[in-house]
Amino acid sequence: MDIFKKCYDFKEAQLARQAGLYPYFHPLSSAQEPEVIIDGQKMIMIGSNNYLGLTTHPRVKEAAIKAIEKFGTGCTGSRFLTGTLDMHNQLEAKLAKFLNKKAALVFSTGMQTNLGVISCLGTKDDILITDKFDHASILDGCRLSYSMMRRFQHNDMDSLERLLKGLDHNKGKMIIVDGIYSMEGDIANLPELVRLGKKYNARVLVDDAHGLGVLGKHGRGTAEHFGLEQETDLMMGTFSKSFAAIGGVVAGDFEVIDYIKHFARSMIFSAALPPALTAAVSAAVDVLQDEPELLTKLWHNADRMLKGFREMGYDTGVACTPIIPLMIGSREKAFALWKHLMAHGVFANPVMSPAVPEGREMIRTSFSAAHTEAQLDKVLEEFRTAGKELGLI
Ligand SMILES: Cc1ncc(COP(=O)(O)O)c(C=O)c1O
Repeated sequence: MDIFKKCYDFKEAQLARQAGLYPYFHPLSSAQEPEVIIDGQKMIMIGSNNYLGLTTHPRVKEAAIKAIEKFGTGCTGSRFLTGTLDMHNQLEAKLAKFLNKKAALVFSTGMQTNLGVISCLGTKDDILITDKFDHASILDGCRLSYSMMRRFQHNDMDSLERLLKGLDHNKGKMIIVDGIYSMEGDIANLPELVRLGKKYNARVLVDDAHGLGVLGKHGRGTAEHFGLEQETDLMMGTFSKSFAAIGGVVAGDFEVIDYIKHFARSMIFSAALPPALTAAVSAAVDVLQDEPELLTKLWHNADRMLKGFREMGYDTGVACTPIIPLMIGSREKAFALWKHLMAHGVFANPVMSPAVPEGREMIRTSFSAAHTEAQLDKVLEEFRTAGKELGLI
């Protein structure tokens, strides 16, 4: 048997390309802004996670440029050995303070943060408990651990409690959830998660990839939104969304972070976050605190779009954040809607099985503080026209 047989047999992507229905890997030839250039065409971007619009903020760009001038382009080594810069430690101190935690640790990607944190905490004597809709990086972190993994129904606290009741009291336990779910756009029921965690002696880890810079009065995320910063044992975040770069952070008690620092293989055996990104993230955190109007604008835009889609008759599921899925429920119709949007200057993401179960096909949209009223009007207009043509509304 040739190990490559599956590759030569894999035809779906090529067929979709030939049919002009391939929605992935479209190259942008412009910055990641509310309007981007794809295939020479201007398009309104409603598929990225640039919630605060900071990818081109002058202070963020300038910080990155200055860092390159001083430190060069790369760290060429792991944080563990030669890769730690004073900037990394400063960023960790800033993030710990921002997140109201004792300590924080920065990783080179959000994916690596989950892989490293979850796999080093979960030993064979522990149980990891996840929501069915948790991000793939959480699932992979669990797979890399030696722990037993158990899943509960999405955001269903009865399902979680039933599960917790049946678990061995002597095992260490951690409940791991997304703060905002990246496809559904709903918020984890953190008050109940914390309550059940206390009742059944389980720690709680919140992946706030989409919550940081979005939820809470100061954009500190899901825990701030619910006033549960102290009760949430570990907070994880990525820099690839509101913070306009790439990288990740985990924040919690000093001892826990210190342990992760010495056992998380995805940090120890991978090179450190480059200077430009470290500086960009640090500047993004400052901008978020200095320009609270960005958060106000983000929520203005999100509320406007949610209302607009719902009034038109679209099913937006349980969404209540700047991530708004339009539940289409058919592969053909979702592709047809996506094609209409592409042809009329709107770039959104179709989400098909196996990423979601059959019948839950959707167009995922996400909005930013940087979108203008005119851009949002145009998006709604295109959804209205296509929705009527396709019998969706
Ligand atoms: C919920 C969640 N966690 C983790 C990640 C991984 O983050 P990164 O893109 O920084 O690797 C993502 C990114 O898609 C995410 O949505």
